[in-house]
Amino acid sequence: MSNIFVIKRKINSFYNKTISVSGDKSLSIRWVLLASLANGKSKSFNLLNSDDVKASIEAVKKLGIRVRLKKKFCEIYGKGLDGYKYKKNIVINAKNSGTLGRLILGLLVNSREKIRIIGDKSLSKRDFKRVADPLRKFGVKFKLKNNKNLPLTILGNENLKPIRYNENRGSAQCKSSVIFAGLRTEGTTIVKAKKSRNHTELLCKYLKLPIRLSKKRGHDLIKIKKAKKLKSFNYNIPSDISSAAFFIVLVCLTENSNLTIKNVNINETRIGIIIILKKMGVEIIFKNKKLYRGEYTADIFVKSSKNIKPINCPTKLNSSSIDEFLLIFLVAAKAKGVSFFKNLGELDKKESPRLKWGAKILNLMGIKNEITSSSIKIFGNPDINIKKKIVIKNYLKDHRIFMSSTIAALTFGGEWHIHDKHSINTSFPNFLKILKEIQK
Ligand code: S3P
Repeated sequence: MSNIFVIKRKINSFYNKTISVSGDKSLSIRWVLLASLANGKSKSFNLLNSDDVKASIEAVKKLGIRVRLKKKFCEIYGKGLDGYKYKKNIVINAKNSGTLGRLILGLLVNSREKIRIIGDKSLSKRDFKRVADPLRKFGVKFKLKNNKNLPLTILGNENLKPIRYNENRGSAQCKSSVIFAGLRTEGTTIVKAKKSRNHTELLCKYLKLPIRLSKKRGHDLIKIKKAKKLKSFNYNIPSDISSAAFFIVLVCLTENSNLTIKNVNINETRIGIIIILKKMGVEIIFKNKKLYRGEYTADIFVKSSKNIKPINCPTKLNSSSIDEFLLIFLVAAKAKGVSFFKNLGELDKKESPRLKWGAKILNLMGIKNEITSSSIKIFGNPDINIKKKIVIKNYLKDHRIFMSSTIAALTFGGEWHIHDKHSINTSFPNFLKILKEIQK
């Protein structure tokens, strides 16, 4: 099957459609990691069936944990907090997943053997010093390629010392890794963290692990003590707002359309895209709001808007929409006026440099933009109608570049040849199938 997706015409309007997108990636990976340390069998439904999550399952299997992955459910047979088996020469392949690669380090801080972590081309370019540095302070030993990258080796310590850590990038991965390490360490670990997604904290609280949270202005304060036991737990994973976002933006950019997306996680640290699009004039409503295991979920109803307004995007929304900016830039491309997004240096540290790629896609579309190392100004054109051929080839095979380009192709016209279709397996294997359903 060809790995290039060719789109030659826009999608037709669609009304009153209802879809479900796949399980949340952040929650799926966290469930696998925490269930692997619980006492006894944990079971999940709607676990995201993607390469990042499969890599997480392979990782815990390497540590001696039994996993039964079926079509409808997944069971993990944890052996308690000290249940990992540290054989010699274990290699864990985190593939494309920054979340797995970084979070698992926090669980390996007391390993008795050296463990090697490797990843694919994209992950091997990403910064692991940002997580090795705080973990070193607990007493953990690291060796990183170029002092920064994968492959790395980690060697744990049985006498870990608690730390004070100031997480100032807004990275949930670094914060979560340190929380996990704190749960393995006698004494109190204190994390002062710039706001970022808080699934780890909410799950730990739900599981009654010894963690205390207090919200301050601009940051969270998290105090963690050594966990004594972890009970097994079942989890029905809600849908991923980062996957729903592709369809929300598809509606925004298609005339006279509306759509409902069922049972999506709407944690307040994840819904930046909703707040931004509402400010830009898009009608979005949460229906059937529910609380599940400490997290809010809802059905999301979205309706296309005739007039998209430009935005001077408040930086406090950056972290809660960090994975959605490629899509938000597309909406800004159709706005009547100039939009401005700043303090987005972290975007270039993702699976590929996404700020640069955002600008590149806009340039190919003929949308004027001005980019710096951390900001972008987009000169929107409500009448945009592309006539030419556009080729998108991201050599790091970034899944979100593929899917965002597909949405652009279906809404702005032109003939698009988008490479690396298989990259959707990283986070959203059903993406193209759901698109087809909507077009029926
Ligand atoms: C994630 C955190 C974010 C996000 C990533 C998933 C997580 O990364 O971009 O897709 O599950 O913790 P950073 O922590 O690097 O911002």
